[in-house]
Amino acid sequence: MKTIRHYCSRSLTKALVIMVTASAILCGCGTVSMSPSKDVKIAVLTYDEHDTFVDSMTKYMTKWCRQKEKETGKRITLSVVGAKKSQLTQNDQVQKFISENYDVLCVNLVDRTDAMVIIDKAMESDTPVIFFNREPVEEDLSRWDKIYYVGALARQSAEMQAKIITDALSDPQKFASIDANDNGTIQYVILEGEAGHQDTLVRTSVCPKELMKAGFSLEKLGDEYANWDRDQGRTRMRELIDRYPFQIEMVIANNDDMALGAIDAIEESNYPLDPFVVGINGTEEALEAIRTMKLDGTVYNDSKGQAEMIMEMAYALGSNEEFPGNVDLTFNKYVFTPYSMITYDNVQKYLRQ
Ligand code: GAL
Repeated sequence: MKTIRHYCSRSLTKALVIMVTASAILCGCGTVSMSPSKDVKIAVLTYDEHDTFVDSMTKYMTKWCRQKEKETGKRITLSVVGAKKSQLTQNDQVQKFISENYDVLCVNLVDRTDAMVIIDKAMESDTPVIFFNREPVEEDLSRWDKIYYVGALARQSAEMQAKIITDALSDPQKFASIDANDNGTIQYVILEGEAGHQDTLVRTSVCPKELMKAGFSLEKLGDEYANWDRDQGRTRMRELIDRYPFQIEMVIANNDDMALGAIDAIEESNYPLDPFVVGINGTEEALEAIRTMKLDGTVYNDSKGQAEMIMEMAYALGSNEEFPGNVDLTFNKYVFTPYSMITYDNVQKYLRQ
């Protein structure tokens, strides 16, 4: 007998100690290890506490832990901290959690190209790391076999976003309503996430390429970074509206918050056109905007699936157990959850989730 769950009553524990000691004496064993079942301590470090998508992931993580505690009777300490977009702050937070003997670190890097310090600290203290959402470069990920990454494939999100647009443009009536100036070319703007983020880079380049591959004629009027943020999306869109007062027929946003910010700006400025607007993530607000026909489509980024996967892995690592069967690792390192498309036609299914 190696472990006893922490919720054993005192007398039960005492009885078990006597039994184990007695059997050890009887069978002539030297020492008997009977450490009580260890609590699991999981630290979650996010790049910023104001990111709606990452915030929804941490909420699902908390729910998962509470449920797992009920099922197993084992205590899970889950500590979530944000780094206010400072990699130095995040490095210090990692150090603190390591010194407090956390079993696993789940890290949403601030700077995905700067994972070196965290990996060094983790390797020194033998603390496994699950990076998520902001993918470290391969060179860093391959440094140690106790480093993992959970996320989704940016290319897939861009291809699906393009598919939502091509489906609409393939309908002649819809095409005519989007092509306001009736010149056969769609004039569009792009609202980009953060510079250097894998999702920004891929979504910005792949979506328009897919549209052109599908044979549509497009003209990019402008693109602006809005850092995944609704207010910034709104400000950047107002500037684009001022620059192109009668021309913007479509808004491609790297995420929903910026798409919703663009819609705010369109509404506030009484823009004379009704641009086709698409986002990515499938946040609650975006789903509601699709239901009310303000947002034309989004791509569901499975925050729940990713959060649960990270917790399954963290719990197993913290308990010295094998990963459960549903953890499907690629190259022993990566887990990618699939995206899916959402438009008015299927939004009900997601609203009910
Ligand atoms: C993306 C997501 C964005 C933002 C970003 C943060 O996957 O679509 O909305 O949350 O991650 O790293």
